[in-house]
Amino acid sequence: MAQLRISVLVGSVREGRISLPIAKWVMDRIGARGEFDPELLDLAEWNLPMFAEPNPPATGRYTGEKQRAWADRIGAADGYILVAPEYNHGMSAVLKNALDTVYAEWGRKPVAFVAHGGMGGARSVEQLRQVTAAMEMAPLSAAVHLQGAAKLRDGDRFNAGEIEDRRLSALFDELLWWGNALKAARQGD
Ligand SMILES: Cc1cc2nc3c(=O)[nH]c(=O)nc-3n(C[C@H](O)[C@H](O)[C@H](O)COP(=O)(O)O)c2cc1C
Repeated sequence: MAQLRISVLVGSVREGRISLPIAKWVMDRIGARGEFDPELLDLAEWNLPMFAEPNPPATGRYTGEKQRAWADRIGAADGYILVAPEYNHGMSAVLKNALDTVYAEWGRKPVAFVAHGGMGGARSVEQLRQVTAAMEMAPLSAAVHLQGAAKLRDGDRFNAGEIEDRRLSALFDELLWWGNALKAARQGD
């Protein structure tokens, strides 16, 4: 079976964000598994405009150049890992905007969360599960919640411990199962 294409989204664009070192850790570990074809999607680089297109994305009528390019990238993936900070008990606005920008391309694919914040980003993930389920994605139960992530940061690196690595590995196991199951189902459509 071909490797699953997994997009890892960096859910913060803030100067000095910890989401980027965490996403690099995810990329490093997912690459080492050899079962996935991972791609990093840095929302700071994408700089998607705040959604202001004339058509609701669920209509499939995309007009913006960036919107079309984003649809291509999201459509190319078989699943997603969202590296999600918690901002004021919710998901970051930039991550919600990235989700809102296109629609069908996300659907019928698994999405998993690597969250961080005071409560390990728990409230952000609960919101993300609601939103992504409404978008016809399959949000996974397996998640990584990083509490006190700043202590494991060393500049651009995130020095995960054994516990964090184990939880991430469990997330990859679930992503592989759901990713393959849903890919086979999509191909049978
Ligand atoms: C605007 C803002 C709001 C925040 N609100 C919360 C919050 O409600 N609960 C929480 O646990 N952490 C909160 N935090 C802390 C962040 O979740 C935490 O610092 C996170 O690691 C920031 O991710 P980033 O550096 O990738 O942007 C907030 C941080 C910011 C910048």
